[in-house]
Amino acid sequence: MPKITIIGAGAVGATAAQRIAETELGDVVMTDIVEGLAQGKALDLAEAGPLCGYDSKVTGTNDYKDIEGSDVVVVTAGIARKPGMTREDLLKINGKIIREVSQNIAKYAPESVVITVTNPLDIMTHVTLKTTGFEPRRVFGMSGVLDSGRFATFIAMELGCSVRDISAMVLGGHGDTMVPLPRFTTVSGVPITELMSKDTIQHLVERTVNGGAEIVNLLKTGSAFYAPSAAVTNMVEAVLKDTKRVMPVCAYLDGEYGNKDIYLGVPVKLGRNGVEEIIEIELTADEKKSLDRSAEAVRSGIASLKVWG
Ligand code: NAI
Ligand code: 2OP
Repeated sequence: MPKITIIGAGAVGATAAQRIAETELGDVVMTDIVEGLAQGKALDLAEAGPLCGYDSKVTGTNDYKDIEGSDVVVVTAGIARKPGMTREDLLKINGKIIREVSQNIAKYAPESVVITVTNPLDIMTHVTLKTTGFEPRRVFGMSGVLDSGRFATFIAMELGCSVRDISAMVLGGHGDTMVPLPRFTTVSGVPITELMSKDTIQHLVERTVNGGAEIVNLLKTGSAFYAPSAAVTNMVEAVLKDTKRVMPVCAYLDGEYGNKDIYLGVPVKLGRNGVEEIIEIELTADEKKSLDRSAEAVRSGIASLKVWG
């Protein structure tokens, strides 16, 4: 069985552990800084095994030594966005946490593929890369799969059709500057631009961009975790089963899309080696402008992180 470590046994981490165990992608180790939290949730999930019928082992720990031999490490450690707080507000606190977590991944799971989830996502993925010193293909972030899932949900609600027929594409940063691409979003192959008015599409695009905040404002005590954990599970599956699925992934750009040394959501082929290919699609001038605006926001986040140290 492959070994999947989830760092941070909070809402996203524990729900991802549940989904991964239920789909038997491998054995799951959960870690957290809070004494007993990962152990308690892991035991609860292990006890659900006989009832749900899965053989995945789920264990919890506060000791990084237990992550040794992990094939995939999912990083959800940090604090979640509260109402009124932007993703960028999280930068300083989570930056420190991600540095510490990444040092331990490099020490104890040097061969792993790392999927970052902690916000602000694009910047935290950058910090993970620079701290672990791993090859960029083995470090990437979860954002576009979730954002595309949200876009698909809103399209299905609008058209009254099955979500299964929708293939949505959202690129750019995971934040206010994300770039939903209606041109590349289809219902059974038909672009939504053929099915809805410009105004309706614009409304759905805006709802997608604000998708995280919409949930935060409803929950009041935390942020989304059901759809985020489902997105994580899709990505873990693509890696461990080497499916080569093409998904929007927060990937390291080394000149692709005209950007260098930066993480940004782009279409990627995911497999056992992580990011196996970045797929460059031709963007219109407006789409490219939006992507560059996204890159600028990520760059300024990285710069401020360097200023604060
Ligand atoms: P949560 O607060 O429920 O869980 C976070 C867990 O991290 C807590 O259990 C906490 O004890 C733990 N933690 C804190 N510092 C740690 C450290 N140094 N080492 C190990 N564990 C540590 O938060 P939730 O809802 O699970 O969200 C986790 C992160 O994921 C947040 O930053 C959130 O904004 C982000 N997120 C990102 C999404 C994306 O699309 N990329 C989607 C949803 C959440
Ligand atoms: C979300 O989009 C908070 O980034 C998180 O739900």
